[in-house]
Amino acid sequence: MNILLTGGAGYIGSHTTVVLSQAGHNVVILDNFCNSQKSVLDRLQSILGKALPYVEADVLDAAAVEKALRDYQIEAVIHFAGLKAVGESVENPLKYYANNVQGSISVLQAMKAVGIKTFVFSSSATVYGDPQYLPYDEKHPTKPMNPYGWTKLQVEEILHDVSISDPQWKVACLRYFNPVGAHESGLIGENPSGIPNNLMPFVARVATGHLPKLNVFGNDYDTKDGTGERDYIHVMDLAEGHMAALTYLENHPGWHAINLGTGIPVSVLDLVGAFEKVIGREIPKAFAARRTGDLPVYYAQPERAKALLNWAAKRSLDEIAASTWKWQQTTVKTER
Ligand code: NAD
Ligand code: WQD
Repeated sequence: MNILLTGGAGYIGSHTTVVLSQAGHNVVILDNFCNSQKSVLDRLQSILGKALPYVEADVLDAAAVEKALRDYQIEAVIHFAGLKAVGESVENPLKYYANNVQGSISVLQAMKAVGIKTFVFSSSATVYGDPQYLPYDEKHPTKPMNPYGWTKLQVEEILHDVSISDPQWKVACLRYFNPVGAHESGLIGENPSGIPNNLMPFVARVATGHLPKLNVFGNDYDTKDGTGERDYIHVMDLAEGHMAALTYLENHPGWHAINLGTGIPVSVLDLVGAFEKVIGREIPKAFAARRTGDLPVYYAQPERAKALLNWAAKRSLDEIAASTWKWQQTTVKTER
């Protein structure tokens, strides 16, 4: 199948590119490189043994998106392109609504103009907000706690309305939990610019000495060791979940919201411990105050993905830590 990956040069998009290409799909990347580097295209070529077609464009440019859809005879779109920093979305909500909501509308309008009706959307567990119960299943109420989460929920609602207006549309809203890890080659992974907000890349930078120590935000939560618990899913498992979703959509039109998580809550100290085991030494750390806006615990009920997509996360915490470290050692240190 000819598939356009908007934001395909990014962390999750690049890994999904590998999985889809190696399964025989023809992948085209459309990206404006606002949060990725073109060097990822060369590294994808090293992994895949072939150059990938790409279009440098902003998804807000519907004409450019439409041209890409026509030029490459695209049959389905996976829409990764989006801004994802929760804190920044609080400071600059208009930037997030413009990029994430208007950008999605722009892609959908281009698809409508060309007659393409298969769409996989990068949604987020952030749509659920304060847990009424755990684990989150797809029936959990959705009430985001920040503008970023609202952009994701609003696009889900838009997609629901589109699928009601035309039952031929095939839509999967994949609600990711906490993607971590890297491809086994160490050639692609997560390399946020500036000081990382997220735990895993921050720990990796402490391990390489680029950052002095890890501040553990809170050790007085009602959890097994007092630190926050999350559902960390290996990015390759996540990528495979996208391929499973595309296969499912082939015979299942309509709108489908599906959690992509492991269903296993893991604490900050658990994750750091797995990383320390890989590198063979302690990560300098100190307990600090809770981070504003943090939830104590959240994790997925992954049964629907298993039932519908015949997909489940299978990679371990040790594989997450080992792949992150290999990425850090192989590529990140040379990218600075
Ligand atoms: P990322 O920033 O690594 O990748 C996003 C890519 O989209 C980047 O290459 C960026 O240059 C591109 N992009 C952004 N705005 C664009 C625009 N207007 N036009 C064209 N390209 C644009 O992020 P990621 O971690 O790979 O996340 C991919 C998607 O998954 C995002 O929509 C994000 O909200 C969502 N998501 C991420 C996480 C996570 O923790 N990483 C969790 C849940 C959902
Ligand atoms: C994980 C745990 C922190 C950094 C975010 C977004 C969410 C989604 C995934 C897009 C928490 C603790 C962290 C640090 C720490 N992204 N921590 N010290 O906040 O669960 O989710 O990324 O959709 O929308 O909110 O991820 O990695 O920031 O935090 O102790 O320096 O690590 O308190 O318990 P989070 P995170």
